[in-house]
Amino acid sequence: MSLITKDAKQAYINKFKSEPILVFSPGRINIIGEHTDYNGGFVFPAAVNLGIVVAIGKSNTNKSNAIALDLNSSITFELNNLKPSKQVAWANYVFGVIAELQKENKHLDNFNIVVKGNIPAGSGMSSSAALENGVVFGLNEVFNLGLTKTEMIFISQKAEHNFVGVKCGIMDQYASMFGAKNNALLLDCKSIKAKSYEIDFKNHQFVLINTNVKHSLSDSAYNDRRAACEKVAKLLNITTLREATERDLQKIEALLTPENYQKALYVIQEIERTQKAAKAIENNNLQKLGKLIYASHNGLQNQYKVSCKELDFLVDQAKKDKNVLGARMMGGGFGGCTINLIENDSTANFISTTSKAYKKEFNKDCTVYFVKLATGTHLVE
Ligand code: GLA
Repeated sequence: MSLITKDAKQAYINKFKSEPILVFSPGRINIIGEHTDYNGGFVFPAAVNLGIVVAIGKSNTNKSNAIALDLNSSITFELNNLKPSKQVAWANYVFGVIAELQKENKHLDNFNIVVKGNIPAGSGMSSSAALENGVVFGLNEVFNLGLTKTEMIFISQKAEHNFVGVKCGIMDQYASMFGAKNNALLLDCKSIKAKSYEIDFKNHQFVLINTNVKHSLSDSAYNDRRAACEKVAKLLNITTLREATERDLQKIEALLTPENYQKALYVIQEIERTQKAAKAIENNNLQKLGKLIYASHNGLQNQYKVSCKELDFLVDQAKKDKNVLGARMMGGGFGGCTINLIENDSTANFISTTSKAYKKEFNKDCTVYFVKLATGTHLVE
């Protein structure tokens, strides 16, 4: 049993004097395919061995309790008429899941929940989806709701839309729920069907570098991007940009601002890059994969405009080292991690050079993570 699981379990027992059910729900990385999920496109994520543990069980009082151990924060609440909380931001992930389950006429009784995680906050590894999935999975077990994993991820996504206020796509919830050991998932966000790819590069690996910044307003910028894409899709008379080609977009260029044209173009190109990346992995062509990853960053930085100076700096550092085949920002953007495809033997050297350069440039540290690709949300026995 991992350390965070032991902690969550013990805290639950101390506080509620009963044995909880334990759930582990992982964070995710994404190889390529950024901001394509809510456009019906392809993404290429994988669940990782960092995540959130949920200890959960029925309450024997007429109230429910939630404790976030990492934040040393707790909240007592009733199940009816839950509204998003302005004071306790993390509680919205729990409240949101409850409210969405109730909308689906799933009956819940009062419960207690303790959560503890080891995903660095704001790293772009999706602690939010891990938490939502952990909560819905736990409630499904405790109250025998009979939900499928697919139903659960849509509950998680709606919780994020309606209680957290981020109009996210389905990538994070899918990857966290359906992750498989040593595999990445090429997910078609239109059909919600994925193909697994075993990731075993022998001489190369993915390494994450956290800028340790999260710029404010990133949530509203995220929703703005989504709205812009939907506007372009509407002008093209299609449901999502997945259905558009570059030629289609050129035809309506005059109707668009140059900014929105570039954003839609980025999405169309990134969907194509993601499919090409899967091919490159199939062919074991890591040079090609690396080029696609660099091109993805270029698009996120210059066309979609969701990067920031710290992320761009880390990617520029990577470009200076020929042993780094590709690097890009990962996740929603405006901070968090870069994902780097590096030759194993050159990794230590690259990390040391980059860490020093980052410190010199920004007078703060970046953090390096080596993650393993791991199983999705599951019960811990
Ligand atoms: C966040 C969202 C995802 C996805 C990424 C960008 O992580 O939650 O749905 O849109 O940003 O690819």
